[in-house]
Amino acid sequence: MSHKVTVLPGDGIGPEVVAEAMAVLRQAGDIFGFAVDVEEGLVGGASIDAHGKPLTDEVLAMAKSSDAVVLGAMGGPKWDGLDYSIRPERALLALRQELGLFANLRPVKLFAPLARASTLKPEVVEGTDLVVVRELTGGIYFGQPKGVTTEADGSERGVNTLVYTTPEIERIARVAFDAARRRRGRVTSVDKANVLESTELWRKVVTRVRDEEGYGDVELEHVLVDNCAMQLIRDPRQFDVIVTTNMFGDILSDEAAMLTGSIGMLPSASLGGKVGMYEPVHGSAPDIAGQDKANPLATILTVALMLRHSFDQGAAADCIEQAVERVLETGCRTLDIAEGEAAVVGCKEMGERVRQEVTASQAA
Ligand SMILES: NC(=O)c1ccc[n+]([C@@H]2O[C@H](COP(=O)([O-])OP(=O)(O)OC[C@H]3O[C@@H](n4cnc5c(N)ncnc54)[C@H](O)[C@@H]3O)[C@@H](O)[C@H]2O)c1
Repeated sequence: MSHKVTVLPGDGIGPEVVAEAMAVLRQAGDIFGFAVDVEEGLVGGASIDAHGKPLTDEVLAMAKSSDAVVLGAMGGPKWDGLDYSIRPERALLALRQELGLFANLRPVKLFAPLARASTLKPEVVEGTDLVVVRELTGGIYFGQPKGVTTEADGSERGVNTLVYTTPEIERIARVAFDAARRRRGRVTSVDKANVLESTELWRKVVTRVRDEEGYGDVELEHVLVDNCAMQLIRDPRQFDVIVTTNMFGDILSDEAAMLTGSIGMLPSASLGGKVGMYEPVHGSAPDIAGQDKANPLATILTVALMLRHSFDQGAAADCIEQAVERVLETGCRTLDIAEGEAAVVGCKEMGERVRQEVTASQAA
């Protein structure tokens, strides 16, 4: 079986971390018996330099015809002064839109050896393993009417509209229930149904999808967003899959991410249509680019996510995630997660250590 992957390393540390992750992916393919057919393209600042725009039609067509896209990171000071319409980040928005990606998955797993990197007490965060499923293309960020108008008395009025339709809620609920089935079978749907009518609809539709579309095996609870924000720092272990609206997801996924204390460890996936897009949460880190200092683990975990969600290769994904955990157990750290006497290694060495653990796990 062969999976076609479009790889867009991007800018800054993007090419460094993506190279390590792709090497891990190829190795997993050898072991678990699947092939990866890789096509690489320019995106973001690198594409602006070469072609004058952050995403060319050729690269977009390449992405659309693949099974999945792996993205590094985009942007940097070199392109900060450009007009918003051709800034590197536009490529990300265009890819999301063109690929019909309406669900953003942000797993937050605290690796036991890094428990002390969190600002919360280790006994609170240890064992945290959750995923926030955020609706990405609807809700208050896109609802009409929106804008700022001037009133007759000269004062101004700012408006945004929180709108969700039944099909928008149904499709994100399915993503959450499917994700829960690959995990511990539990979904927490987060809304503000006591105040916002549109999220009252959200609650009703999520429940109906569970009851009427054959997801009876998945446990579902509803939690108000303010309570969820509290519970995340009080007892994050209670959560498996959290599904929520665009704005609530924007905020809660960052709150949940901070439980781990390190941006260099966080993968993400955007799903929707035929092609899933996978990228680390961090940016291009221009301050450390080209110095072999970047932590490749977020991107390596991103590839594991792709194996699980796009290629149905759960065993290979588990193998990579366990290899990452074992490398951390040996005390090996990149600079961003270094503590005490830990041995600090570069990006390449960290990638190599993960590959050694993947190999060792198969020999065992
Ligand atoms: N999805 C994306 O492509 C994306 C996301 C966020 C920011 N950006 C862009 O990246 C550029 C830099 O943004 P920023 O500095 O706000 O965020 P950033 O995530 O790039 O960096 C924030 C801090 O975290 C460190 N860091 C980030 N990833 C790391 C890793 N893998 N290993 C070790 N350290 C790491 C950086 O060195 C920096 O000190 C900007 O141009 C921004 O627009 C892109």
